[in-house]
Amino acid sequence: MQIVNTVQALRTLIYTWKVAGERIAFVPTMGNLHAGHCQLVTAAQQHADKVVVSIFVNPTQFGAGEDFDSYPRTEAQDTEKLQAIDTDVLFLPSVAEMYAPNAKTVVSVAGLSELYCGASRVGHFDGVATVVCKLFNMVQPDVALFGLKDFQQLAVIRTMVNDLNMPVDIIGIDTVREANGLAMSSRNGYLTPAEHQLAPLLYQSLCAAREAMVAGLDYSSVEKQALSALGNAGFQPDYFRICRSLDLAQAQQGDTELVLLVAAKLGKTRLIDNMSVAL
Ligand code: PAJ
Repeated sequence: MQIVNTVQALRTLIYTWKVAGERIAFVPTMGNLHAGHCQLVTAAQQHADKVVVSIFVNPTQFGAGEDFDSYPRTEAQDTEKLQAIDTDVLFLPSVAEMYAPNAKTVVSVAGLSELYCGASRVGHFDGVATVVCKLFNMVQPDVALFGLKDFQQLAVIRTMVNDLNMPVDIIGIDTVREANGLAMSSRNGYLTPAEHQLAPLLYQSLCAAREAMVAGLDYSSVEKQALSALGNAGFQPDYFRICRSLDLAQAQQGDTELVLLVAAKLGKTRLIDNMSVAL
């Protein structure tokens, strides 16, 4: 595996692959890699000749008071994991390499970026869209893979790619979970042992809501039940929403392709999860 730290070195490498007619897949990450990230890399290998993974803890997607400084940085372990699964290139830029001090351009997917997680994390999705757009320009992938775990993020990226005619196929990959149902996340490492025991309740709240929907309970009651179950269990729920998968608009009774989106704090840790429901 080659490790590349500069855009120039990356471009040189990409150029040789493009000239040789090789198809390139890209998996952007912020590191502290777990089985969910590795699943994206393995899937990427099915779609291309070469796989580029980036690790960049992107400051512009963290709000003031969020965990940018404490976000786990585990480069040595991440490098070993990527090597073990035959990644071709690890792109590991510094903040200075990614952002010129006088940069003025922001990519913003209006509307979608202000809902749900965007309402509690103002500017977060602008940071995500901007860095992913920049990374796409650097890597020039044919295909890029993202986790369905971050359902709203994936919707933002798909919209950006579509609106700006970016020549990249976007593929969503199923959420990898612990045996108890908890979605794997770099932020799970913040949980105390007691919180970690409680955390799978987030997934269970999604399963219970899906059952209630299938049984015919109206959406607003389903949302209320889930919020109070989480609150009673010791979470501080941010939102629990039943949305249309297509555009994440609030679902109306009669819609058939739905997704349940949930975000809740457990102690200091903000967890998100989601579940698709076809009625
Ligand atoms: P990060 O949280 O490191 O996630 C990188 C990718 O891994 C994302 O596409 C995310 O959805 C996926 N992922 C995370 N947990 C997963 C799980 N349990 N199962 C499957 N996939 C999972 O998301 C980001 O980084 C950043 O916002 C980024 C897109 C890199 C832009 O900075």
